[in-house]
Amino acid sequence: MVEMLFGVLLLVMLCGDLTAGQTCQANAPRRDCGYYGIQEPECVQTRGCCWTPTEGQPWCYYKTSLSVYHVDAVMPNKLGTKITLKVNGSTSSQFGDLISPLTMDITMESDERLHVKIYDSNKQRWEIPTDVSPIGSVPSSPPANPLYKITTANKGEPFYFAVTRASDGEVLFNTSHSDQPLQFADQYLTLSTTLPGTESIYGLGEHKVPLQLKRGQTFTLWDFDTPTPPNVNLYGSHPFYMDLRQSGKAHGVYLRNSNGMDVIYGDNFLTYRVIGGVLDFYFFLGPTPEGVVQQYQEVIGRPYLPPYWALGFHQCRYGYPNVEALSDVVTKYAANKIPLDTMWTDIEYMDGYRDFTLDPNNFPLSKMTEFVEGLHNRSLQYVVIVDPGIKVDRGYKAYDDGISKGVFVKDKNGNLFTGKVWPGVTTFPDFFNPMTADYWKDQTSTFYNTLLKFDGLWIDMNEISNFCNGECSGSSHPEEMRRSVDDGLKFDPNNPPYHINNQGSSIGLNTKTLDMDAMHHGGVLEYNSHNLYGLMESIATCSVLESVREGKRCFVISRSTFPGSGAHTGHWTGDNHASYDDLYYSIPEMLSFQMYGIPLVGSDICGFSGDTTEELCSRWMELGAFYPFSRNHNIKGTKPQEPYEWSSVAAISRKMLGLRYSILPYYYTLFYKASRPVTTIPSATVTRPLFFEFPTDRNTHSIDRQFMVGSGLLVSPVLEQGSTSVEAYFPAGKWYDVFTDQVVTTSGGTSLTLHTPIDHIQVHVRGGSIIPGKGTGLTTYDSRNTDSTLVVALDSTGKASGDLYIDDGETVSTSQWMFLLFNATSSGSSGQVISGIAGQAGDPLKIPPLGVVKVLGVGGSPSKASINGAAISGFQFNTTNNVLLLTGINADLTSSFKITWE
Ligand code: GLC
Repeated sequence: MVEMLFGVLLLVMLCGDLTAGQTCQANAPRRDCGYYGIQEPECVQTRGCCWTPTEGQPWCYYKTSLSVYHVDAVMPNKLGTKITLKVNGSTSSQFGDLISPLTMDITMESDERLHVKIYDSNKQRWEIPTDVSPIGSVPSSPPANPLYKITTANKGEPFYFAVTRASDGEVLFNTSHSDQPLQFADQYLTLSTTLPGTESIYGLGEHKVPLQLKRGQTFTLWDFDTPTPPNVNLYGSHPFYMDLRQSGKAHGVYLRNSNGMDVIYGDNFLTYRVIGGVLDFYFFLGPTPEGVVQQYQEVIGRPYLPPYWALGFHQCRYGYPNVEALSDVVTKYAANKIPLDTMWTDIEYMDGYRDFTLDPNNFPLSKMTEFVEGLHNRSLQYVVIVDPGIKVDRGYKAYDDGISKGVFVKDKNGNLFTGKVWPGVTTFPDFFNPMTADYWKDQTSTFYNTLLKFDGLWIDMNEISNFCNGECSGSSHPEEMRRSVDDGLKFDPNNPPYHINNQGSSIGLNTKTLDMDAMHHGGVLEYNSHNLYGLMESIATCSVLESVREGKRCFVISRSTFPGSGAHTGHWTGDNHASYDDLYYSIPEMLSFQMYGIPLVGSDICGFSGDTTEELCSRWMELGAFYPFSRNHNIKGTKPQEPYEWSSVAAISRKMLGLRYSILPYYYTLFYKASRPVTTIPSATVTRPLFFEFPTDRNTHSIDRQFMVGSGLLVSPVLEQGSTSVEAYFPAGKWYDVFTDQVVTTSGGTSLTLHTPIDHIQVHVRGGSIIPGKGTGLTTYDSRNTDSTLVVALDSTGKASGDLYIDDGETVSTSQWMFLLFNATSSGSSGQVISGIAGQAGDPLKIPPLGVVKVLGVGGSPSKASINGAAISGFQFNTTNNVLLLTGINADLTSSFKITWE
């Protein structure tokens, strides 16, 4: 008896800090449970975590869990396996009771795509509707040659699964050796994978961080409106990462889940901590980085093809006081001969910040109509902002209509949910309600038909941003969620037991947004669907625009995004600062969004907040000229920063935007290719990191101060104040300076310091590419009406290739289009370029002819050239830099041609 008592006592002492299979292990890898400055009481009592002060390690860290799920049954099926998991022993855990049994479906969806979904076997939990963010099609028979293998525990064993690459056995994702096994409670789902520690990880946005993610950081996904400090969760959520191994092989992992989450990236692990939904993983086997993005887009939807004019230059500002100010800007652009395609207006055009209205004093209807007609007559476009917050105001159509149709978000009692945004007290359309699409269409089309013939819409504040923390009427929750872990663990959306690292601390989920128990149609909680709002508004807005503008492609730029957004919208990176840091961050942000399937992206050029400077704005106009979406925008109260504000910046903008407009056919073709099914054209991104093109060159894996446009252009900007040089990396190959035609040749990759004065940016064409272009112009319309050009950049074997897509540039179902291929071969002083039609619909397009062909890197010294056998009279060969320039060609681009030189 005494012995037994001692035994029990000993057990109690040994298990002193064991809570349902969890223990404090100070010597195991620690997951940070706190934030800088957290103290022991909050760590231990409030968060239920462990506290061990140790230099260089998190003092407050999570308990380590013991493996609790075991495999109960394994049932193979046509496309994979169904596995049942059960908890052995106690189901209680630190963050709520573990759900048991669970089902894991393993589905081999294609040779490159594996789907692994873990969910409650007995109860339907929240999952993202497939009409909001799609899932790829599932085949009827298993793929023939899967690039992966998946192994799982056997019946009766502790649960794990591991994904390996079939070709070389490399482990890509492995939950077996983790000290953090699967935990699946109602509001806390965690799973870890081990990593080799030598990999490079990208993605998990939206954050302002370097492109290659740093270890030891938590990446929180929770849409939030903030002036973009580094490292914290921003406007959109993309639970997708790309993992590039040292071999140069890449794979991607997408967790299809819209709940708030932390993704912790450690020295040799990556851990998901998610507060709802299911664990729905997709693995994309690449093995090229570009292939990974293509395979990801097969699930979430391919990016849409924007209208051609969207690729022109855009000018905006928060604070243009009246329509006269707008006219003045447009006039000054023209007077300074700076390209401008689209003028924008921020919230001041509205009457008291009410959507779908005009301020009768400063932006009166008659003058606005005249202004917009003036733009359209000159082939310019007009874009205005629309925020989701509808002012609570009887007599205001958008409010009254929404109330009568019942389309606004409700509070937990079924009453109107109200927050506060620019117009004051506001409510928010609920895009889960099927009536809301009609409501949104009605408001937008009435606005279009009676007030303003806009060409596109800018949808902002859609995180949803709210100036109150939750409901404004006083029921807002305290900023800090101080909740005792043993305070009952029944489902509470406003105070989940696990606190994601919202804004780098534990502020409430409702901070600057809705309450988590706000209700959407069908009983959908804000808690589950918060991260989807921007995507759903984008879907509705793009569809309305296509219909009111009678079949023209939509132009929508959204601040908040989610997987699938790229099929409906572009994105700008929000409220950056006029600083050199943010000039740099705009590159990793732009490149990350290429991986998220939203290629139409750019940052506020010259900086949104704070006064820019002549030098910074010069550097930013140079870099911004290469963003897929190129817009200058700043906040009211700061100095004006339109490029003509300084004669130097005006000159730089003429030069750089001139170059941009002359290569827009190349950009547009990249957008077209990204929008096509992978099976038709395997291409997914517009701008891309260097490692996409040179994955086996490890030097490229961390480069995010340079980038590529397609596979053929390398952009290397100056990003430091006072600097007139740039350290540029050139991967193996031949690179031709687009301004001077000078060549850099490297066999193994080399870094060069290039003199880059204030009016210059380094842009190089990669040997092996053919870049289609146009003459420049002050609008895309003018530029499209000039003759076509081809720059043929021969590689060291004398070859080059390229392509060109042509259509009317604006209709959704274009019935007339062509996709052309170009191929060049040369040897010594002779060579040829041939064109071929790879695809076509309708009658051939009537377009200006091919006027100029420039061939870079010609060997020998040719003396004549011909097209389809007829001599080309405009023949020049520069023997100093081996450039052949053929002018006055006047060939019909829409039929095949052959140009030869000898
Ligand atoms: C938000 C947007 C910004 C806009 C402002 C006023 O801060 O991010 O671009 O100018 O609201 O509408």
